[in-house]
Amino acid sequence: MRVGILTRNPEAWCSTQLRKAFAKLGVEVDCFWFTDLVSRISFDPIVEKRGKVDLSRHLDALLVRPIGRGSLDEVLYRVDTLHRLSEAGLYIVNPPRAIERCVDKYYALSILNSTGIPVPKTVVTEDPEAALEAFVELGEDVILKPIFGSRGMGITRISDYEVARRIFNLLHYHHFVLYLQEYIPHGKSDIRAFVIGDKVVAAMCRKARSWKTNVSQGAKPVAITLSSEQTELALKAADTLGCSVAGVDILESKNGRYITEINSQPGFRGLQSVSQVNVAEEIAKYIINKVKM
Ligand SMILES: Nc1ncnc2c1ncn2[C@@H]1O[C@H](COP(=O)(O)OP(=O)(O)O)[C@@H](O)[C@H]1O
Ligand SMILES: [Mg+2]
Repeated sequence: MRVGILTRNPEAWCSTQLRKAFAKLGVEVDCFWFTDLVSRISFDPIVEKRGKVDLSRHLDALLVRPIGRGSLDEVLYRVDTLHRLSEAGLYIVNPPRAIERCVDKYYALSILNSTGIPVPKTVVTEDPEAALEAFVELGEDVILKPIFGSRGMGITRISDYEVARRIFNLLHYHHFVLYLQEYIPHGKSDIRAFVIGDKVVAAMCRKARSWKTNVSQGAKPVAITLSSEQTELALKAADTLGCSVAGVDILESKNGRYITEINSQPGFRGLQSVSQVNVAEEIAKYIINKVKM
């Protein structure tokens, strides 16, 4: 069996853990990045890896690590390439459909909301005047997010009308879409549930010094066991977006419990530092079983 790992850096911590886990389970691993690929239309192979390798024949499965920040061209091309490989029969984790839903915070929350999963009130617009109206409607305390973003980068909290006006106008001028969300008073912590298949294999509470609880922003992970309601919610959310591996972010507040996002290519270094379960091995075992089935 041979599994591909799409990663910009095979030496990165998570990719290293995954490589080791597959090797331990007797599976050959091939690491490469999108720039190593060439797609063809109207002649074969449809996707070739450097060295004249027909990717869909060469691999039994492909695991996608962070698809990366990129230009619109790059992101579209990358997802489309995954779609073509998937259509050619290659088993991909996560499926390209799930990735394209999750990387887009607007699309992801819309789908979650339509299936009854609680998400914060959110307004998305290209009009700075409409954004200002929404700012008031959402209680003059909002979280402003890039639609495509991760690790808490570029996310800001605005609670001043004049600051909001200035920022909305500036972002509009630079062609950003304005994505505003009601602030959920969560008390400087949130929950990350790590889903593999139909199980939450590990979970942590992320304790921060500010409202931003990403581990990459300095929050401290603490292992927790989820309640059955939290587990059920995390599984339903991951399943709704079609993820077989997912990092589900849950905010708890006195007003209720909300899903803020589903990460379709979740890192697990912080989680692993407090978890008894070997996360990389769980991912590897899941993929191997799926291929065997
Ligand atoms: N609506 C919100 N209310 C309060 N805090 C939020 C809200 N949305 C996000 N946050 C905080 O910001 C962090 C990053 O937001 P998130 O939507 O998960 O984006 P990212 O992809 O950057 O992780 C969350 O982990 C949470 O701590
Ligand atoms: Mg997050």
